[in-house]
Amino acid sequence: MKAIRIHEFGGPEVMKIEEIEIPVPKADEILVKMFASGINPADYVVRQGGNVILKPFLKLPLGLGLDGAGTVEETGSDVSRFKKGDKVYGLPNFLNGTYAEFIAAKANQFAIMPNNVSFNEAGAIPSCALMAWDGTNLGKVNAGQKMLIHGAAGGIGSLALQFAKAKGAYVIGTASRYNFDFLKQLGADEVIDYKDENFGGLLAAIDVVFDASPVFNEGARMMMAAALKDYGRFVSVQLPHAFSEEFLGILTRKNAEAKMIRRELDIAQSLSDIAKLIEAGKVSIVISKVYPMGEVAEAHTALETKHVRGKIVLEIRKENESRNEAD
Ligand SMILES: NC(=O)c1ccc[n+]([C@@H]2O[C@H](COP(=O)([O-])OP(=O)(O)OC[C@H]3O[C@@H](n4cnc5c(N)ncnc54)[C@H](OP(=O)(O)O)[C@@H]3O)[C@@H](O)[C@H]2O)c1
Repeated sequence: MKAIRIHEFGGPEVMKIEEIEIPVPKADEILVKMFASGINPADYVVRQGGNVILKPFLKLPLGLGLDGAGTVEETGSDVSRFKKGDKVYGLPNFLNGTYAEFIAAKANQFAIMPNNVSFNEAGAIPSCALMAWDGTNLGKVNAGQKMLIHGAAGGIGSLALQFAKAKGAYVIGTASRYNFDFLKQLGADEVIDYKDENFGGLLAAIDVVFDASPVFNEGARMMMAAALKDYGRFVSVQLPHAFSEEFLGILTRKNAEAKMIRRELDIAQSLSDIAKLIEAGKVSIVISKVYPMGEVAEAHTALETKHVRGKIVLEIRKENESRNEAD
């Protein structure tokens, strides 16, 4: 089978399509025939050699890709939740390498994908959606509360915005001006340009801040902390950038909480709950562009601009391959 792998760290050119053996699922695993994989920031961070958190885990050669969607090809002897042919989406163990025609992964890292989306759409959902899901849950955002989402037009931000709206929150999203209409279409109540140096001056009485930006900026973090209400919550995706003493001081004075998202949740249950929201039409996944496997370098280059709207996807097989098999 074909898989995209790296034998050295570096630029997009180090990714190569290789022929490797189809993996054999263990007792608690499923073999998934992959149709699409999401392209996520961790993919280019791993390709470049990692950051302070990831570096110790990276041993070459490596398969790339965090998440994806496909059909169940085979089930391990202990797996009863799925049968051959089920359409699933999931987030396998880190470094399992979803840019591949087949992957073997734990069954409890997958769920049945939403019935109203394509494989390309489903493949783009799991990693970002689980970050956004965990973030809105850790933020304990409720109906009527004011939630600020920083970086609301990106993969995580665009889903967090919709999850917060589905909970009835009042949502303020930050983005570049060209994304204002996009955020409003997703349901944002207010939009703010984070490039305005003093955007914090436009904010007050925020119950929950969700920092989903791919760019760390201590100044922006401090401005958003200043806008938090007493007993507010500040949630961040930026694990490599620990909260500073000064930042924590502001939160302590407000009796506010600060949390880094670690995505410690039940993956299968959360993906099933997310699928229900998508099937109910309350949340949609926005795909900017689909790239074939042969254009993975272009896909990474696009994501590394840090200005992709919604998601980009790696198409591993064409959708009609599954229809032909069903005929
Ligand atoms: N994706 C995952 O599953 C995952 C998992 C763990 C951690 N993370 C981390 O979470 C962060 C976000 O991930 P993502 O997948 O949502 O990234 P992404 O899709 O690449 O984010 C792109 C968005 O970021 C916005 N943006 C760019 N520069 C910004 C800035 N200086 N301030 C605020 N927003 C800015 C852009 O908005 P405009 O184009 O409107 O400027 C664009 O919409 C990354 O740092 C990633 O490492 C992600």
